[in-house]
Amino acid sequence: MQAAARAHANIALIKYWGKRDSALNLPATGSISVTLEALHSETRVRFDPNLVTDAIMLESGGDAERVSRFLDLVRALAGMEMRADVRSRNNFPTGAGLASSASGFAALALAASRAAGIEASPSELSALARQGSGSAARSLYGGFVEMQRGRDDRTGADAHAVPLLAAHEWPLAVVVAIIDTGTKSVGSTDGMTRTAATSPFHDAWVAGADADLAAMRTAIRDRNLERVGELTEHSCLKMHATMLGAQPGLIYWQPATLAAWQTLADLRADGLAAYGTIDAGPQVKALCRIADADAVTAALAQVPGVRDVRISHLGPDASLIADPWA
Ligand code: PMV
Repeated sequence: MQAAARAHANIALIKYWGKRDSALNLPATGSISVTLEALHSETRVRFDPNLVTDAIMLESGGDAERVSRFLDLVRALAGMEMRADVRSRNNFPTGAGLASSASGFAALALAASRAAGIEASPSELSALARQGSGSAARSLYGGFVEMQRGRDDRTGADAHAVPLLAAHEWPLAVVVAIIDTGTKSVGSTDGMTRTAATSPFHDAWVAGADADLAAMRTAIRDRNLERVGELTEHSCLKMHATMLGAQPGLIYWQPATLAAWQTLADLRADGLAAYGTIDAGPQVKALCRIADADAVTAALAQVPGVRDVRISHLGPDASLIADPWA
């Protein structure tokens, strides 16, 4: 009745921003991401007949109530009532636009389903993780990953991720410029709801997604970094444009965010291929060749307001691990 798992964070190149169903957490569009080796969550789940409530210890912060609601899904699948003892930690800041919900719910989905004795395929695990956090569905896989929007609105079974390329098939680096590690003011679920309800740009955002996804699939297949980078920056800026159009507007950027973004444009003008993306937080993540990662790091570290810079290679699939707290 016990299992532990590790899952890595991911950064979307083609963004997910909007739900078509909030009960099943079905995305309005597909998305494409890269999984990050350097950022991970480790989670242990033990179902225990002696517990009367879930005992949840999130060492790096996070929402215990949301974890408990996710465990209810796992209990329903397993046909049992037992409460669980959960322990989890991240090796990076939680809730600050560094995709902690993605790695966290992917690790939880894998550990909890195994602890509950559920035999789940990778696609089923990914669809389960989606119900914790949309981006978590992608963190079951390493390398380049596509989240499929799916068509089945009744069960959501086809809204799961699929692997596109393993990390070793196209080794790249992501350089993360950490600007502010405080928890974001508007979480992604509330931000998405507000954007869909009030932004005049939301419909255009959804309408453009299939073309962006198709172009990105081709660019990844061709290992064309320049094209992947252009499409990444386009999807990011278009997502933030839809957020800016909400009422009230959602601004996740800080001055250093824009300064870091400009630094990447300057690097490109000097012939170095580095392309940025920004999620629902101020951090800037840059995609580049591994050989260029040190130069990108040095440039970003000099931007006023950038507190820390981390390099990550592309990471592996989520996996079961020995209990880190044993
Ligand atoms: O998985 P959520 O509900 O935290 O939403 C993730 C939203 C973005 O990070 C902004 C974009 C994405 O596709 O990861």
